[in-house]
Amino acid sequence: MTAIAQTASLERPSSRMPGFYQLDVVSRHRELARRFGLTDEDLDLLRGGGTDGVSIADKMVENCVGVLRLPIGLGLNFQVNGQDYVVPMAVEEPSVVAAASNIARVVRASGGFQAEADPSVMIAQVQILGVNDPDGVHAALVNATPEILDTANARHPNMVARGGGANGIEIRVLDSVPRMLVVHLLIDCRDAMGANIANDMAESVAPLIEEVTGGRARLRILSNLADRRLARAHCTIREALLERPGHGGPDVARGVVEAYRFAAADPYRAATHNKGVMNGIDAVGIATGNDWRGLEAGAHAYAARNGRYEPLTRWWRSDGHLHGEIELPMAVGTVGGSTRVQPVLGVLQKLLRAQSAQELAMVMAAVGLAQNLGALCALASEGIQRGHMSLHARSVALAAGVSEDRIDDVAAKLVRIGDFSPSAARRIAESV
Ligand code: MEV
Repeated sequence: MTAIAQTASLERPSSRMPGFYQLDVVSRHRELARRFGLTDEDLDLLRGGGTDGVSIADKMVENCVGVLRLPIGLGLNFQVNGQDYVVPMAVEEPSVVAAASNIARVVRASGGFQAEADPSVMIAQVQILGVNDPDGVHAALVNATPEILDTANARHPNMVARGGGANGIEIRVLDSVPRMLVVHLLIDCRDAMGANIANDMAESVAPLIEEVTGGRARLRILSNLADRRLARAHCTIREALLERPGHGGPDVARGVVEAYRFAAADPYRAATHNKGVMNGIDAVGIATGNDWRGLEAGAHAYAARNGRYEPLTRWWRSDGHLHGEIELPMAVGTVGGSTRVQPVLGVLQKLLRAQSAQELAMVMAAVGLAQNLGALCALASEGIQRGHMSLHARSVALAAGVSEDRIDDVAAKLVRIGDFSPSAARRIAESV
């Protein structure tokens, strides 16, 4: 199966919106209405109004008693395969959106991100126990493959009509105790994440596989190690553009490569390195209604595919440029699942304008790479805390009970004195 580097055909507003962060929320909404044609109803949904409340949440989980809100920020400046993307990100960590947008601006000035994504093939696993000679049933399973695929596809004719469906099997024998046979069903889920389809197809083919092998099916479930569904992005940045206060561009680039080598040599560091990558990917996953726990599971399992835990990105220098690349499973959809359950997700889709699962996967890979570079640039120069805590100061003031009209003032003073404790926030608030 070949990877694709797909170009979206939708007319896209520029993702460059200089000064957007300095506007108040009302002015930002006005800007979005102008650029993206958002309606008053859309804006109301963004504000947390409309029908997006506990009544919808009550239909989503058992024993529902409320909703927990996350801020939605826009990752700006992104250019992927020559197309502009305004990227919705739902995340509570203050520096994530700012860091991604800053790096996307720098990458844009060097030609933007290039990305590609494999077709949306999920793996569904059927565990077969009690087969006396697991290796001996291989030929029988190969012979039965057309029937297995027909059985799976009969459950989802619409998916087949869209050009997807089960299109192959893999047979594995695990040297576990007891030894067991595992049959993988490979399913092209087109623009869906595909968890329900994969699980459903696994359940539907299990009796037939039992018949063919003489074994007993137990687990029938998708694999979150979606390594048939990888997304990749890379970028090349002129080192001079990486300059930061007190640090020349080449020095920052050297620091980024040294940070990468640290992660490549040490799983303790690689875990944190990859956490930074997933800061961005999860935020987009949540803002597009995708299963971010599945993304996390796939990413970390993939990071350990060579028998040790490794970084998901790679950075190197040549010819005055810093080069970076990322590759990881990206099981995301633009239709089905929970992608449209909450009406606000439809509004965010109007901003992002990803027309297919593969297009979304490519953008998310680029965001992961940007997020990682943002963290490494800060870590390799002034350190992470200054920028992070400056942005965090407002959350500290809010959590300390400072009234909303005083938040910015108190946060600025916290930054000035370099004390980000709730008691300092209360002291400042009471002193005026
Ligand atoms: C914090 O959320 C993410 C970082 O720790 C990532 C990293 O260390 O690379 C800053």
